[in-house]
Amino acid sequence: VSLQSYNTFGINAKAKSFCNITSVKSLQNLLSENHNKPIFVLGGGSNMLLTKNIEALVVHINIKGIKVTEETDDYVVVKAMAGENWHKLVLWCIKHNYGGIENLSLIPGNVGSAPIQNIGAYGAELKDVFISCEAVCIEDQSIRVFNKDECEFDYRESVFKKSLRGKYIITSVQFKLSKTNHQLNLGYGAIKQQLAQNNITHPTISDVSNAVISIRQSKLPDPKYIGNSGSFFKNPIISSTHFDCLKENFPAIPSYKVSETQIKVPAGWLIEKSGFKGKRFNNYGVHDKQALVLVNYGNAAGEDIYNLAKLIQHTVNRLFNITLEIEVNII
Ligand code: EPU
Repeated sequence: VSLQSYNTFGINAKAKSFCNITSVKSLQNLLSENHNKPIFVLGGGSNMLLTKNIEALVVHINIKGIKVTEETDDYVVVKAMAGENWHKLVLWCIKHNYGGIENLSLIPGNVGSAPIQNIGAYGAELKDVFISCEAVCIEDQSIRVFNKDECEFDYRESVFKKSLRGKYIITSVQFKLSKTNHQLNLGYGAIKQQLAQNNITHPTISDVSNAVISIRQSKLPDPKYIGNSGSFFKNPIISSTHFDCLKENFPAIPSYKVSETQIKVPAGWLIEKSGFKGKRFNNYGVHDKQALVLVNYGNAAGEDIYNLAKLIQHTVNRLFNITLEIEVNII
C-alpha cells in the first residue's frame, strides 16, 4: 500500500500491511490479535517524514464523531474522536459558537494527534482548552482516561512523546469551550493587523478564525499542493547570556522571553540568516515565505529532505552555536 496520500509531506513510502480502524472496539481487537507484533500508528500524517518503507502493520486511526457531552449556560464539553480532521472540528465549533480553538484554525492533522505535540499557534495551545483524552493501551488493550496534568503538556511536548511514547493510542479528546463571553486571544500582532485591515473592531470567534486562516495561507504552503509538515524544527530556547552574546553580532535577532534566564528565538529567522530561505534542491527545499518549513515539490525522497534538515542543523549550529531540535517525527 502506498502511503503517499496518508502523509502531508506526500512521500511515496510503502506499507507492507495496512488496516483502517473506525471504532475503538475494532482497535482493541486488532491490537490483541497482533499482540507483540510491531505496529505503526497513523493519524493525519501531518507531523512525520517517512524516510523508508514501513515493515510494521500500519494502523490508520479513522474513528469519527463529534458530540457535546456536557453543557451549562456558559460552557460546553465537546468530545471529538481521534480520526476527525482538526480543522473540521474547529469549523464545527465556530458554527455552533463554541469558543476556544479559533486561533488553532487550519492546523493540519487529526484530533488524536493534537495532544501528542500540544498543537499551538497564534498565542493559543491545545492545553488551554483540554479536559481529558481517552487512549487504548497497546500492551493490554485497556482504556485509560488521561486528565490534563497526566498529559504533562509543554511547548510541543506531552507525556505521549516522552515516558509513554509508543505505549498508547489516543482515541478521543474532550475540550471545554465557551458559549458566551468568549475570551478572545488577540495578543498576536499579526491577528490584530489582519482584523484592522478588514476594519473589524468587535471581532467574533469567526473573525479570529478567518484572520488566522488568512495569515497561515499567506506564509504556510498548503499540503494539498506542496508537501510539507509545517514547522520542521522547534523554536530553540537558549540562555539569556547566550542571547546577549548573539545580540552583539546580530542586533536584529528576534526573541521572546520565556523566563528570567531563558529566551526563545525563532528558528525561522536563524535558518533564513543561514541562507536557506527559499533554497530549492531539485524536487525539495526550504519554503520561500517561512524558512521553518521544508517542502516536497513532488516525488522527493524522505531521506533527501532529512539530509537537508541535518545540513540546516549543522549550519545553524556553526553560525549561532544553537542546536535546532527537529519537531517532525522522522520515520
Ligand atoms: N522569521 C524569519 N524568517 C522566516 C520565518 C520567521 O525571520 O523565514 C522570524 C520573524 O521575525 C517572525 C518570527 O520568526 O516574526 C516568528 O515567525 P512566525 O510568526 O511565522 O512563527 P514561528 O515562530 O516561525 C510558530 C509555530 C507555528 C505557528 C506560528 C504562529 C513552532 C515550531 N512553530 O512559528 O507552528 O503557526 O508560531 O503561532 O513553534 C507548526 O508547529 O507546524 C507551526 C506551523
